Amino acid sequence: MSQARDSAWAPDSWQRLPARQQPSYADEQELQAALATLASLPPLVTSWEVEQLKDRLADAQAGRAFVLQGGDCAESFAECTSPRIVGQLKVLLQMSVVLMAGLKRPVVRIGRLAGQYAKPRSADQETRDGESLPSYRGDLVNREPFTAADREPDPALLLRGYERAALTLNFLRALVDGGFADLHHPENWDLDFVSRSPAAEQYRAVVQQVSNSLDFFESVTGGPVHYTRRVDFYSAHEGLHLHYEQAQTRFLEHRQNWYNLTTHFPWIGMRTADPDGAHVEFFRGVQNPVGVKIGGELSTERLQALVRRLNPDNEPGRLTLIHRFGAARIEAELPRLVDAVRSTGIDVLWVCDPMHGNTETTAGGIKTRRLENIQSELRAALHLHREMGSNLGGVHLELTGEHVTECTGGSRGLTDEDLTRDYRSLVDPRLNYEQAMEIALDIANQA
Ligand code: PEP
Ligand code: CO
Repeated sequence: MSQARDSAWAPDSWQRLPARQQPSYADEQELQAALATLASLPPLVTSWEVEQLKDRLADAQAGRAFVLQGGDCAESFAECTSPRIVGQLKVLLQMSVVLMAGLKRPVVRIGRLAGQYAKPRSADQETRDGESLPSYRGDLVNREPFTAADREPDPALLLRGYERAALTLNFLRALVDGGFADLHHPENWDLDFVSRSPAAEQYRAVVQQVSNSLDFFESVTGGPVHYTRRVDFYSAHEGLHLHYEQAQTRFLEHRQNWYNLTTHFPWIGMRTADPDGAHVEFFRGVQNPVGVKIGGELSTERLQALVRRLNPDNEPGRLTLIHRFGAARIEAELPRLVDAVRSTGIDVLWVCDPMHGNTETTAGGIKTRRLENIQSELRAALHLHREMGSNLGGVHLELTGEHVTECTGGSRGLTDEDLTRDYRSLVDPRLNYEQAMEIALDIANQA
C-alpha cells in the first residue's frame, strides 16, 4: 500500500509528536517567513535521482553492491570551498576504487555533503565560567562563537544552509559530469598517499587492476564507464531539523507521492530514532531511502517497531540500518539485533559506522578516535554478519581528504601528542586522508 494514501501522515503530522533536538526560535513569524521562502525555492535533488539511489541501495542490500558513505561530522558555511569539496570527492573516489577492486562489486558513493549542517547535542545549554547560552547546533541553526547573539537560533540561516547546499551540489555535479570521476585517470585524483605511505604499493597495484578491468568492460559495452550512470555520486545528511526538511518536501503529481528533495538520502540520528517520535513520523511518509543510526542498548522491540514503521511494505533499498556500537560492544549487541530484524520478515541494508561508538577524550581533554578501534569494529561487523548469513552492505565514515590530526593511529603512528598539530573539526574527529585509505584497503583485503 502506498504511504501517500495513509491519511494519518502529512508533511506536518510530525508536529503533533514530541520532537527532540529542535531549536527554539524567538520569533515565530520570522521562522514561518523563512520556511515559506524555502518552500518556494527549487528542490536540490530530483525524484529520479532519489529513486535511482534507492535501486542502488537495493543492490547493496542484495549483496550486489557496496555503499561507501563519508564526509565531515558537520559541514560549516565557511568551509564551502573548492579545495574541501574536491578533497572530499577525491578521497571517496579513491577509496571506492580500492573497494571495487577488492570486493568485485560496484560501489555506491554517498557524501555526508551538501547539507550536513545541523547537529544533535547532548545538552540544550552550554555553560562557560558561570554563563549559560544555547548550545551550538550547527550552522543551519546558530553560530559557534560563545556570545548570546551568535548562539541565538536564526531562521535566516535555514536559507543560507539551503544556498550552501546548492552551491556544493552544483560543483559536485560539474566535477562528476565533467569527467573528474573518470576512473581511467586515477592519477588526476591521486594525493600524496601514493608516494609516501607504507600501503602505497598495494594501492598502486589496485589502481592498475581497476584500469585493466575498465578497458575490458568498455570493450564489451562500447562506452565509457562513467557515462553508464547519469549520477554517480549522491548526497546525504542527518535529517534533524524537521521544519527545514518539511519545507523542501513535495508531492509529485507524476509519482503521486511525497519526496524530501533537500537530499537523496536523509538519515535519522541515534538521538532522534524514537519509533514514536517526530523524526520517525516525518520520514515514514517520504519516498526517499532513509537511514537510521542504531546503537547503545537498543531493545529488540524498539528496533522492530522502527523497522515496521519505516519500511512497512518491505521495499528493497528503502531502509538502511547504520549500526554504531563501538569495538568493545559490537559482538554483544549486533547478533541480537540482526535476529530481531530477521524475525520481522522485513529486509534492510546493514551498514557499519565504526566512528561514533569509538569516540574518547584524551587526558588533555581532546575528542579523538583510535584507528585500531575503528578497524576492529569494522572487522567484527564483517565477520558477524557473515557468520549469521547476513550481509554487511556498506560503511559510514567521518573523513576528510586532508592531512588533519584528529584520530590517532595508522601507518604514521599518530599519537595523542600529535592531535594538537592540525585539529580542525568543530565536532567529531575525522579520519585523515591516509587513515581513510587504510580503512578502504583493510575492507578490500577482507573480501
Ligand atoms: C553523526 O553521524 O555525526 C552523529 C551524530 O551520529 P549518531 O546519531 O550515530 O550519534
Ligand atoms: Co559525528
